[in-house]
Amino acid sequence: MAAPPHWAIATHKGGTGKSKLIELIAAAAAEKGDRVLVVDMDAQANITRRLRAQIPAEPAERRQSSLASVLERPGKGEIARVLVPSGWGGVYSERITVAPGHLDLELLALTAGQPSSSRRLLTALAGVVDDFDLVLIDCPPNLLSHLIDNAWTASDLLWVPVEPEFDAVEAARRVVERVERDRDLLNPDLAVAGFVINRFRSQLTLHKQRAEETAGIISPAAVCPVRFPELVALKNGSEFAQPMSELGTEGRAMATLGADAYAWMTTRGQMLMGAAA
Ligand SMILES: Nc1ncnc2c1ncn2[C@@H]1O[C@H](COP(=O)(O)OP(=O)(O)OP(=O)(O)O)[C@@H](O)[C@H]1O
Ligand SMILES: [Mg+2]
Repeated sequence: MAAPPHWAIATHKGGTGKSKLIELIAAAAAEKGDRVLVVDMDAQANITRRLRAQIPAEPAERRQSSLASVLERPGKGEIARVLVPSGWGGVYSERITVAPGHLDLELLALTAGQPSSSRRLLTALAGVVDDFDLVLIDCPPNLLSHLIDNAWTASDLLWVPVEPEFDAVEAARRVVERVERDRDLLNPDLAVAGFVINRFRSQLTLHKQRAEETAGIISPAAVCPVRFPELVALKNGSEFAQPMSELGTEGRAMATLGADAYAWMTTRGQMLMGAAA
């Protein structure tokens, strides 16, 4: 796949922090000076709201201005017609662009069997991505779905947020299994780049054990050394649709962690994509 890197954030365990990681990484990228395209492939459209994407207020117009309408039968580069800036202001609005999600993304499953239907997002993105340094794709919380197939077909690398508890670690394992099983069908270049541990409590032995198990899925080098704690500031950023940098001392500390995670992901991503070239 041509530059810029396309990263999907995915796991079928719900609520593990996929959209949160996108918020943090998009903010860190914008603060560093990178231009980011955030593609909201989740019918919940959480990241669209949290980034305050400037979408129309009127419901019918909102659907027409979303990925749900683009992905019905996309022409090359058609995503361009729905792109809107983040409403966070300042460098965030200048550098974060959103392809808005919509509830009707669910309906695309009805057309999943059509020829090349899993290449729709890839087609819609063609050419448009040249204006960006990074494409971030927020995936819905499932594994075998038309939306996931589209997201993964359009991605170079997958990052999996993991909570240090049994079900989330198992879900991460299944993401890797599915990539290994279906890579040739979907996207021969696709790789699981790594795991980002969220809601980590360092004083809990169980959390340390689950973190070690996560390191055993691919290798310790695939686990982000930055572990996000469970913190009110992180919750509030999503609730009130604000960047971490605006949420006091705790928020700024989390913005710094986000920048550290972004730096590590960038280096690892470059290493993996360089190795594949
Ligand atoms: N480390 C954290 N500390 C506090 N709250 C968090 C943390 N990580 C995520 N949250 C909150 O938990 C909720 C779920 O997170 P998020 O929506 O990012 O998960 P998700 O994996 O995208 O969910 P879904 O599977 O529904 O798409 C959100 O309200 C988010 O703000
Ligand atoms: Mg989400």
